[in-house]
Amino acid sequence: MSRVTIFSTTKYHDKDNIIIMSNIMSGKKLAADIKSCVKRHVEKLGQMGIDVGLALMQVGGTAADEQYLKTTISVSKTVGIKTYEYRLPGTASLNEIINTINNINKDERINGLLVLFPIPRRINPRRVVNAIAPEKDVDGLGSTSVGMFAAEESMFQIFNKDDFASGDGRHLTIRNTTCAPHGFLPCTPFGVIRLIEHYGIDIKGKNAVVIGKSLAVGKPLALMLLAKEATVTICHKSSVDLAAHLKNADIVCAATGVTGLIKGDMIKKGAVVVDIGINIMPDGSFAGDVDFDSVAPYASYITPVPGGVGPVTIATLLENTLRSAHNNVLLKTPLILP
Ligand SMILES: NC(=O)c1ccc[n+]([C@@H]2O[C@H](COP(=O)([O-])OP(=O)(O)OC[C@H]3O[C@@H](n4cnc5c(N)ncnc54)[C@H](OP(=O)(O)O)[C@@H]3O)[C@@H](O)[C@H]2O)c1
Repeated sequence: MSRVTIFSTTKYHDKDNIIIMSNIMSGKKLAADIKSCVKRHVEKLGQMGIDVGLALMQVGGTAADEQYLKTTISVSKTVGIKTYEYRLPGTASLNEIINTINNINKDERINGLLVLFPIPRRINPRRVVNAIAPEKDVDGLGSTSVGMFAAEESMFQIFNKDDFASGDGRHLTIRNTTCAPHGFLPCTPFGVIRLIEHYGIDIKGKNAVVIGKSLAVGKPLALMLLAKEATVTICHKSSVDLAAHLKNADIVCAATGVTGLIKGDMIKKGAVVVDIGINIMPDGSFAGDVDFDSVAPYASYITPVPGGVGPVTIATLLENTLRSAHNNVLLKTPLILP
């Protein structure tokens, strides 16, 4: 198969000389838009003497966590959000972890807490995320956030066109006084929906296949695609014949952590392929769940790894943290927002 690349579009000729245009879905532009808006709002709060703070908590941790922590801290800095690091040893007990979270819950400087997963296997992750105060659960993994999301009480956020990324903040103020003050959406799937729509792709009526059913990524993403009126299939480790499920998929979202699981011969021509996987290779480079070189010639749109979903996830986390700060201001001093 021959190929010609012009900017972010690559033209492939298959063996029958049929031309397929494959567009790279970079997350960098969307992330930059979201961040510049967050920065503006953080500055506005700063003028009222209010700082916005994000806590990052690591228990034990891997090289990948270190990298994620470093990136999130530096990106937070660029928008004026203060970060607070909590590095617990891998031997920390559940009580120690929960006590630390209780202190974060009470800390007025902190609007959001992100716990880096996975944590050591002996610790029940549900106990950990449920210890986070719902109003600071900016990655939306606690039972309150998950329940509100599944009951479609917070899902409205994926339909907001006039959100922080494009609105003037006034709408947000009005919406949040009339809506429940918490119920954050998990950042990665929310970011995926935004990225797909950023590229003008209509989700309604499409066959979407999500590979992976974790509570942080696969499951909420499937619910979001369903809310957008796609016909959704969820595949997982026990799914028999993954390729058969992908054969008719217009949208493929892979979130498995298995390097190169999705190959070109599994993909329908013209499919939109979103690679959520971030896998660290022995040489320190990153790879996704999608075998980019073999899939790109069949995809109309495809995300790179890195530089696809990742930057939008971090920008959405910062936006949720800002939203939490706004909620806090509104609850405590409803009249002072401009
Ligand atoms: N881009 C970002 O911003 C971002 C954010 C979060 C996570 N990630 C990345 O996304 C990936 C998934 O994260 P996660 O937290 O969802 O991981 P996870 O909790 O380990 O879940 C992985 C899911 O993939 C499924 N799976 C594993 N092997 C499979 C296979 N061979 N065929 C089909 N399904 C398979 C598992 O199925 P079972 O349930 O049956 O075991 C599980 O549901 C990781 O690479 C992670 O680093 C990226």
